[in-house]
Amino acid sequence: MNKLRGGALPISVSLVLILLPLIYVALFRSNSIDALILWTNQLSNWNGYNQMSRFMGDGAIGSIQRLVRGRGRIELETTGFSCNSSSLHSDICVSTDLVTIDMKSRTVYIPQKQSLPPINWIVQPYARKGDKAALGNVAKVEIIRGIKNKPPPPCDIFHNVPAVVFSSGGYRGNFFHEINDVMIPLFLTTRHFQSQVQLVATDYKEHWDSKYHQILTSLSNYKVINPAEDEKVHCFSGGVIGLVYHGDLTCNTSGIPGGYSTNDFRRFLRDSFNLKIKNVTEIEKPVLILISRQRTRALLNEKEILGLATELGFKAITTTPERMSNLSRFSDEINSCSVLLGVHGAGLTNALFLPDGAVMLQVVPLGLEWASATYYGSKVVGKMNVRYLEYKIIPEESSLLEKYGRDSPVINNPATIGKQGYAVSSKIYLRGQNVTLDISRFRKTLLQALELFRR
Ligand SMILES: *[C@@H]1O[C@H](CO)[C@@H](O)[C@H](O)[C@H]1NC(C)=O
Ligand SMILES: *[C@@H]1O[C@H](CO)[C@@H](O)[C@H](O)[C@H]1NC(C)=O
Ligand SMILES: *[C@@H]1O[C@H](CO)[C@@H](O)[C@H](O)[C@H]1NC(C)=O
Ligand SMILES: *[C@@H]1O[C@H](CO)[C@@H](O)[C@H](O)[C@H]1NC(C)=O
Ligand SMILES: *[C@@H]1O[C@H](CO)[C@@H](O)[C@H](O)[C@H]1NC(C)=O
Repeated sequence: MNKLRGGALPISVSLVLILLPLIYVALFRSNSIDALILWTNQLSNWNGYNQMSRFMGDGAIGSIQRLVRGRGRIELETTGFSCNSSSLHSDICVSTDLVTIDMKSRTVYIPQKQSLPPINWIVQPYARKGDKAALGNVAKVEIIRGIKNKPPPPCDIFHNVPAVVFSSGGYRGNFFHEINDVMIPLFLTTRHFQSQVQLVATDYKEHWDSKYHQILTSLSNYKVINPAEDEKVHCFSGGVIGLVYHGDLTCNTSGIPGGYSTNDFRRFLRDSFNLKIKNVTEIEKPVLILISRQRTRALLNEKEILGLATELGFKAITTTPERMSNLSRFSDEINSCSVLLGVHGAGLTNALFLPDGAVMLQVVPLGLEWASATYYGSKVVGKMNVRYLEYKIIPEESSLLEKYGRDSPVINNPATIGKQGYAVSSKIYLRGQNVTLDISRFRKTLLQALELFRR
């Protein structure tokens, strides 16, 4: 490519520059992909990329800069690119310059400027760094800057917004992980772009896109790109590879990019899914919903529990995790409830849809105290304006008692089983245990929940 010299722009380029506002308006108005492609094909022969990205994206540049702090911010401001891998959970790379993405090979090209050191990195853009099982389902993305035999290919399509590249794989299929590892990080990373951002989801699946349609369309004005199907070379006015992560089901107002609380995420969900009930006081008679697990950690006396709840004055209903595949229906179902009751498991993530002041009641099976407290404990749920109650079972309520006997360490010393590693303990406590609640013992906890709604 020829360098533009001495500020003298060729006439064709000057014309394009003069016409840019018009083209811009026309594109935005018509939203025509054909026009965009046509325009892009003309521009891909043009070397004024920097002028263009500056013209297009002052707001976007500010939004990208919000994603880095400290040394990274200085590096971004001086070189247009920065990566931060100091977080325990996720690596994130950002570019305020034009990036070229070859969708077919999942390669991101960062423009080489001055004499910056070359870069050739492989990243897995999923917020569970070091988790081999999750990363086994996360495609690798290559980032390249200034590698001599790997120049950026010419653009097929230009986008006047930045790209955000992330994996929708990992632990997809587990609702907790879908929300915690992808949706919350996506919200944190992109909300402040005010929908002027193109999502590029590796490990894409159509059913994932349709399940989270409401969230994805609230975050971006554009259809998600599935690189495996697209196979073209796209250019963007900037780029983010990887997502911000703050902790289990958490948005930390002082974390990057700043200003989002867990409740902001809940409000965002309410708006996205058009949920009606903001505050539990809007529900006349308290409604208890029981998430009915069918195969593992099943509640074997659900009927009795529902009977008890009804006797105490709740309207008691059940739902199954399968129904979660239709999130717009499911979120609405949960949003009309006062108490979400369930045995520790991914379904409890639905507490995010509860109205303010509602209660999440977690049944904690044997050996799962740590997981229960870490993923859904009062520390986590408390940030949601949802009240947290728990019911810790005793050995008599666990199917493990009959299987292993009272003298087994499985029953009387789960910590020693935990020391044998996740494979051993999860097989026993997560996948090998059902529970039968002691109704008279559980009654006290349900009364406690009811008490919270007394006016
Ligand atoms: C990475 O991010 C942390 C936290 O924002 C910041 O303190 C640190 O300076 C950054 N490091 C680099 C190399 O960008
Ligand atoms: C929130 O983020 C800030 C800044 O990154 C950090 O110092 C603080 O410990 C975080 N708070 C929680 C509760 O994680
Ligand atoms: C989800 O359920 C709603 C309401 O019952 C229905 O209108 C919608 O078509 C369903 N969506 C899918 C993808 O099945
Ligand atoms: C719900 O509404 C009640 C009554 O209007 C109010 O007192 C309460 O603070 C609200 N709860 C939450 C968590 O916002
Ligand atoms: C738990 O209950 C389910 C449903 O009744 C059953 O299919 C499963 O085999 C039970 N598991 C154990 C370990 O008892």
